[in-house]
Amino acid sequence: MVRLGIIGLGEVAQLMHLPLLADMQDKFKVTAVSDISDSVLDYIASRYSIPHTFKDPEDLIGSKEVDAVMILSPNVYHVRQASLALESGKHVFLEKPAAIYPDELEKLVAVHAKHADVTGMVGYVRRYSELFLKLKELLQKDTKAITYMRARTIVNETGFYVNTTRPVFRPRDLPPEAGKALREEDRAHYLKALGGGMTETQKNIYTLLICSGCHILSAVKELAGLPKAIKTVAQAKNGSHLVITFDYGDFMCVFEEVNDQAVVQFDESIELYQNDRRYYLRYDTPYIRNLPQVLEVTDSTKTSTNAIQYGPCYTDMFTTELNYFYDCIANGKEPKTSFKDSLEDLRLYRDIALKA
Ligand SMILES: NC(=O)c1ccc[n+]([C@@H]2O[C@H](COP(=O)([O-])OP(=O)(O)OC[C@H]3O[C@@H](n4cnc5c(N)ncnc54)[C@H](O)[C@@H]3O)[C@@H](O)[C@H]2O)c1
Repeated sequence: MVRLGIIGLGEVAQLMHLPLLADMQDKFKVTAVSDISDSVLDYIASRYSIPHTFKDPEDLIGSKEVDAVMILSPNVYHVRQASLALESGKHVFLEKPAAIYPDELEKLVAVHAKHADVTGMVGYVRRYSELFLKLKELLQKDTKAITYMRARTIVNETGFYVNTTRPVFRPRDLPPEAGKALREEDRAHYLKALGGGMTETQKNIYTLLICSGCHILSAVKELAGLPKAIKTVAQAKNGSHLVITFDYGDFMCVFEEVNDQAVVQFDESIELYQNDRRYYLRYDTPYIRNLPQVLEVTDSTKTSTNAIQYGPCYTDMFTTELNYFYDCIANGKEPKTSFKDSLEDLRLYRDIALKA
């Protein structure tokens, strides 16, 4: 049984991790929570019967009641809180993005190297969905060469899905100075990522990539590796529409991200072509738990075409991800979504934003 402390009790904690952890009591017990808001701390502690609450995340990290720390706080605090947790001998589950700028993440990789006996994992949840794992397994057995890849993230999720399904407790007692400090730190981190010449468009593109596009792009990386080069970066509407082409040597991959549309949809997908075969994996919104998912495989000849569907699969990918975190802790395994793995991603996203 892993005694877990959670830092940051906002949307992702309330919608996903806390309710799913409540169903995994054979593996995890949430013994402590931390947030800068008293009201959300009281609400969550009482709702989930959590015995220890801390306003200061450092006190949670230092608590003897905690073996592992789940960091669900704003991105600017990720590396600071994760480093402290590793140095205190605690396992770390860190929500994506692991950091805002690559140099800071390099420091976290170095801290982890000194404390390699504890697990450090990044929450790239799409890479733990059962059908993503099936797609990977099929590809590994497959001798056909990839001829084209297409991936996309066109989402408008939070407001509609959350408000019409499961309400989130939104605190009104956040210290006013906290918001200002967060915005200032955030800007300083972006400047460190993109340099003093950073334009607003570059900042917007980088935000899209590190906050949402990273899910699908890191899944593409797990399937096909890092691209040899970024061929083109096209953008419009001040960076909120983005089309990137990657050069993989033998094939090209197109990635499309759009996030200013008012149509309610969650269209995240990966299509992989091998001339006469196509794999198509589509994710539905992660904010409604246990939605079914399918993977389609289509094979064609000159005279016929056959499609196989894997799924529908109802296991929530956040649950699979938490099971994997447990397995890494219990068996001393290095997670595939390690801090080092995220560092490659941040460097790629920085290069994309600077090319725009
Ligand atoms: N894997 C996913 O699909 C997914 C989805 C959403 C968010 N996320 C990630 O999870 C993290 C949290 O996102 P969210 O949407 O829940 O944000 P949120 O703003 O809803 O919640 C953040 C919480 O952290 C608290 N907080 C602020 N400063 C803090 C500090 N210094 N120490 C402790 N707590 C502090 C806030 O009061 C708030 O309750 C982000 O890194 C985000 O990228 C991942």
